[in-house]
Amino acid sequence: MPDDIDNKAKEILRSNDKGGFTVPTGGLYPYQWNWDSMFVALGFATFDRSRACQEIETLFEAQWSDGFVPHIVFRREDPDYFPGPSVWQAGETLPTSGITQPPVAASVVYKLWSEADDDSIRGRLAALFPKVLAWHRWFHSCRIPQGIDAIVITHPWESGRDNSPEWDSPASAIDVSEVEPYTRRDLQHADPHMRPTKLDYDRYIALVEYGRGTGWDQKKIATEGPFRVADVGMTMILLRATRDLLALAKALARNDDRPQIEGYLRQLETGVDYLWDDKHQTFCSRDTVNGQHSGMVTSASFLYAYADAGNEEQRKQMLSHWERISANAEYMLPSHDPDNVHFDHMRYWKGPVWMVVNYMLAQGFAEQGMPEAADRIKADSRRLIEGFGFNEAFSPKTGAGTGGSDFSWTAAMWLAWCGQDT
Ligand code: DGY
Repeated sequence: MPDDIDNKAKEILRSNDKGGFTVPTGGLYPYQWNWDSMFVALGFATFDRSRACQEIETLFEAQWSDGFVPHIVFRREDPDYFPGPSVWQAGETLPTSGITQPPVAASVVYKLWSEADDDSIRGRLAALFPKVLAWHRWFHSCRIPQGIDAIVITHPWESGRDNSPEWDSPASAIDVSEVEPYTRRDLQHADPHMRPTKLDYDRYIALVEYGRGTGWDQKKIATEGPFRVADVGMTMILLRATRDLLALAKALARNDDRPQIEGYLRQLETGVDYLWDDKHQTFCSRDTVNGQHSGMVTSASFLYAYADAGNEEQRKQMLSHWERISANAEYMLPSHDPDNVHFDHMRYWKGPVWMVVNYMLAQGFAEQGMPEAADRIKADSRRLIEGFGFNEAFSPKTGAGTGGSDFSWTAAMWLAWCGQDT
C-alpha cells in the first residue's frame, strides 16, 4: 500500500512538472509558486536530485537585481488564473508577481546540500548560496524595519496563509471602492465554500493595484502601504532559514558572509518578542500600523519550535495551547484555533490542515525534545493522505480534502517525510 502511494506521489510531481518547474496543481494554480517549489524540491530529491536542484534554479531565474524573489513566476499568460502577468506588470528577467512568499529556500538548499553525495549536485547547490543570501538581504532592507525586527507583509498572499483570520482586522482599512472590475478564475476550479470570500478578493486586488501604482517600489509599499502586518509565520520561517544559511556559509567556508548573517540572526531573535502577545499568551501576528496583536493561536504560532525561538515561559504557554487543541482535534494541526469564533474547518487558512506546515512543525517539535507532538503530527498527516488523497489541505475534523487535488507539495511531503518510516 505505501508503495502504491509512493508511486502516485511521484506521478503527481511528474505530471505537474511543466519543464523544469512544477505547478502546485493543474487549473487552480498554473504557474510556478515560490514556497511550493521549495517543498516540491524536497519531494523530487527522494528520487531525482538533479531535478530537485532545477526546481530551485528555475525559481531563482526570476530573482530581481535587488535580491527580491517573487511569489509567482509567470512564464506565459494562462486564462485559467487571475490575477495574471498583465495585472501585476512586474518582473525584470521574467514576468512575475510583485510580492514575495515565505523564505524556505535556505533551509531546503542546506538540507539538500547536506544529503548530497555527488560533487556536481553540491556545486549546483553552492552556486545558489549567493542568490539566497541576496534574498535575505532584501528582506532586511525592504521588509524588516528597525525596532520591529520582524517581517512585515504587505499583502496577505505574501504570508502564504492567504485568508488567515489574522489579516481580517488590519485588512479592514483597505479601500476597495476603486477596484477595477474583475472575474475570479479560482471558483471555476474549487468550491466557493473552501476559497477566500469576495471581500477578501477585493482587498487582494486593491493591494495589487496599489503596488502596481507605485511601480513596485518595495520600500514605499512596506512603509506607506495600506496593509503592513508583522507576520509570525514568515518571521519564524526566516529565523530558521537564517540559522540554516549560516550553517551553509560555514560548510562552504564563506567566512566573509558570516558576520552579516549573524547580524540578521540577532535582529530576528529580537523580533520574535515583538510578536509575543502577553494578553493571550501566544506568538501571533501584529499590525504595525496600530501595534495591535491579532491575539490568535494559529498553526504559524507553533513555528516558534521550528525557529528555536521563545523563552521557557513562552514555550510553556505554547505547550498548553498545543494540549488544549490536540485534546479535541481529530487531525493535527488545524491552521486556526478551533476554539476561536473565526474557525472554519473547510476554508483554507481558517482551519484546514496543511502538510507543509505540519512538516516544519514536526521537525521543530522533534528538535525541541517533544517527540510525542512530532509523532502525532506525522501519524495524523499520514492518515490524512492515506485516507483522503493528495489534497491541497484537509479538514481537521473529518479529514475531507479542501481546495485543489493532486497537489504537488502534498505529494512531496509524503515522499520526503510523512509517508516514510524514517
Ligand atoms: C491564490 O491565487 O489563491 C494564491 O494563493 C495566491 O498566491
